[in-house]
Amino acid sequence: MAILETIVIAFWAMLPAYVPNNAAVLAGGGQPIDGGRTWGDSRLLGDGKTWRGTAAGIVAGLALAGILNLVAADVSNAIGIDVPEFAPLAALGLAAGAMLGDILASFLKRRTGRQRGAMFPGVDQLDFVVVSLPLTALLAPDWFFKVFTWGVIAVVVILTPVLHVTTNVIAYKLGLKNEPW
Ligand code: CTP
Ligand code: MG
Repeated sequence: MAILETIVIAFWAMLPAYVPNNAAVLAGGGQPIDGGRTWGDSRLLGDGKTWRGTAAGIVAGLALAGILNLVAADVSNAIGIDVPEFAPLAALGLAAGAMLGDILASFLKRRTGRQRGAMFPGVDQLDFVVVSLPLTALLAPDWFFKVFTWGVIAVVVILTPVLHVTTNVIAYKLGLKNEPW
């Protein structure tokens, strides 16, 4: 597979996992998932993980997968690279896995003494990949192993931190996020 093709497929296939975090930032607020509970000296997850943000993130990821499915054939024709359509369970694994990974990261942040909004290099950038890919492999194995070749996975691991840093700096500059990470 040519490198450009691999990059395009990796980006396309990950879009339903990329968008939930941004949607959660836009829609977040209200009841925290942990209901204010603590574990030891710190919150279980913190006020940064809310039901509304999580639900909005998953819905946004699913909706985007649906939209991408509508245009996949036309896009493939136009650019000469076969971009994949999302199986319903694949879309769910990517979107829900992204939110779960983010929640798991907050859990780890609180256990390691990091306050809400604190930076956790590496974890912040790849938390959602680490959960969304295995969850998708579990929910839609045939789809996953067809689309996520080793080359695609390698591109995802390299590309995701770059995109994550870029979008978060933009969201910060636009005043949508409190910290640029
Ligand atoms: N958000 C949300 N629900 C989620 C994820 C994010 O409501 N599941 C919203 C919150 O308003 C959160 C903002 O998006 O403050 C930014 O997300 P993130 O950076 O992931 O959270 P932090 O506030 O930095 O908290 P943490 O340190 O726990 O990551
Ligand atoms: Mg944060």
